Amino acid sequence: RYFGAAVAAGKLGDSVYTGILDREFNSVTAENEMKWDATEPQQNQFNFTNADRIANYAAANGKLLRGHTLLWHSQQPGWAQALSGTALRNAAINHVTRVAGQYRGRIHSWDVVNEAFADGTSGGRRDSNLQRTGNDWIEAAFRAARAADPAAKLCYNDYNTDGINAKSTGIYTMVRDFKARGVPIDCVGLQSHLTNGPPGDYQANLQRFANLGVDVQITELDIPQGSNQAKAYAHVTRACLAAARCNGITAWGARDSGYWPGNGNPLLFDRSGNKKAA
Ligand code: G3I
Repeated sequence: RYFGAAVAAGKLGDSVYTGILDREFNSVTAENEMKWDATEPQQNQFNFTNADRIANYAAANGKLLRGHTLLWHSQQPGWAQALSGTALRNAAINHVTRVAGQYRGRIHSWDVVNEAFADGTSGGRRDSNLQRTGNDWIEAAFRAARAADPAAKLCYNDYNTDGINAKSTGIYTMVRDFKARGVPIDCVGLQSHLTNGPPGDYQANLQRFANLGVDVQITELDIPQGSNQAKAYAHVTRACLAAARCNGITAWGARDSGYWPGNGNPLLFDRSGNKKAA
């Protein structure tokens, strides 16, 4: 199992920050630098400068590297937002192929697709320009990612899926279908932005995904400071340790300062870089 933090390339020059990373974490996720707007600002013109800063930091310091994220409805470059239909589908698959190929062999796990399911009770897909290219866009992305980087674990990642609810069940059904049809998927990421702490069925939800034959990773954990922050972190950690296929926990940042969107003090280290009770 690994224990990780989301990191920002712009903070890697801060020795208090990197001190925490070096000492406490053995995995990092790029908070923004591997997203579509960052890596392909103009169509077919790739820029890996900031993504490389994180990848090189990981390699130089013996950290696993999580890739976040190949396709998402948000943080798309303007040119992609303006596309639709076959042109968008082809651009999206090209993006997956090129970015996963760029980091081939260096990524422990890729969030191939992020946040493609709708909130609420439908259990269905979120409407987006990608979804409107056809319901098979997710499996097309996973197949392209597997071809580009066969060693990386390929993950579907989402939020508000931490307990058993309509949204997590929609994803569960998709993963079961992918496994049955041989679509390459290796893991499910539960973001776990746990505003109200973990739901009572958190562990049962982890376990039901594991039982489908995929790994489960807690990918963006944060829990606002206040009553029971430490207990809630302990609950999440115990749930992961108890599920055989929960192979990693990533907090959505290392310390409270610089946390996006800036408040809540939801991380494990305070603004001065000291360990909190959690
Ligand atoms: O880099 C620009 C900077 O040049 C500019 O001056 C500044 C002014 O607004 O914006 C900076 O960009 C911001 C960027 O973070 C880097 O700090 C964007 O405005 C801001 O929108 C962006 O926010 C990111 C957010 O995703 C966007 O959706 C957060 O950092 C990032 O933590 C957050 O991460 C997401 C995950 O990818 C997916 N799951 C939810 C999670 C947030 O809870």
